[in-house]
Amino acid sequence: MENISLPNMNAVSDRQNYRLLHGDCVALLAELPAASVDLIFADPPYLLSNGGTTCSHGRRVSVDKGKWDKSAGLGIDHEWNVRWLKACQRVLKPEGTIWVSGTQHVIFSVGFAMQSLGYHLLNTVTWFKPNASPNLACRFFTHSSEFVIWAAPRREKGNLKHTFNYRDMKAENGGKQMRDLWSLAATGKTEKRNGRHPTQKPFALLDRIVRASSKPGDLVLDPFAGSGTTGVAALTNGRRFIGIDCEQEYLEICKKRLAEVSK
Ligand SMILES: C[S@@+](CC[C@H](N)C(=O)[O-])C[C@H]1O[C@@H](n2cnc3c(N)ncnc32)[C@H](O)[C@@H]1O
Repeated sequence: MENISLPNMNAVSDRQNYRLLHGDCVALLAELPAASVDLIFADPPYLLSNGGTTCSHGRRVSVDKGKWDKSAGLGIDHEWNVRWLKACQRVLKPEGTIWVSGTQHVIFSVGFAMQSLGYHLLNTVTWFKPNASPNLACRFFTHSSEFVIWAAPRREKGNLKHTFNYRDMKAENGGKQMRDLWSLAATGKTEKRNGRHPTQKPFALLDRIVRASSKPGDLVLDPFAGSGTTGVAALTNGRRFIGIDCEQEYLEICKKRLAEVSK
């Protein structure tokens, strides 16, 4: 497998098939070569840490996750979405794609930013969580889904050139075309055995994304790597991985999880 050769950045872990970088993703993405990445999965902060509460395991708990999840106001949050999405667009290969997850709190800004930057939207997958937490306020329907926008970096004339393993997805769906509604359980306890990240995505979601839209040996990047779920899915499926996060404590979880699958 081809090595990941990158400029000497502040890597916290550097292996033949993956690299973890500590810092702000916009700054670090600027140091990567243009058109060098095959697939990006981005799970940006949903900016929900506003002093509210939610329900977890039947108990009312604070929604605050950390400084990184605080909103700076709609306008500034949107400008920031434009900045990191632009940085991702530069490093994507023309035939590469990006997936961005979000709830109603950020996904409309993300979608508008992507359209403004000239991304070509391919799908908006609805990820339905059959085991979603109940709603304590009882003033609206229980939240049980997230959206994942899938896009190519630019609109191309003629045939779309991105990787889509259509047949594999159809086979996985019992021989019928796979639709854009995916029912996958929220992250289970055993997936958190290497430490707790407040917004860890389930392996099943990233596994499907990686298998659907990349090839063995491809370079997968996550600018908000957190506990490293994207990296676990990338390495499990024989892809290479670059993970970026601004919080060292999350990169430590990421390192442990990647070590488990890269033996
Ligand atoms: C929603 S979480 C991602 C969780 C991840 N998908 C997982 O499965 O663990 C967002 C992550 O982005 C990181 N983050 C926030 N702002 C950042 C920035 N400007 N640059 C790099 N990482 C950032 C946070 O530390 C947090 O771990």
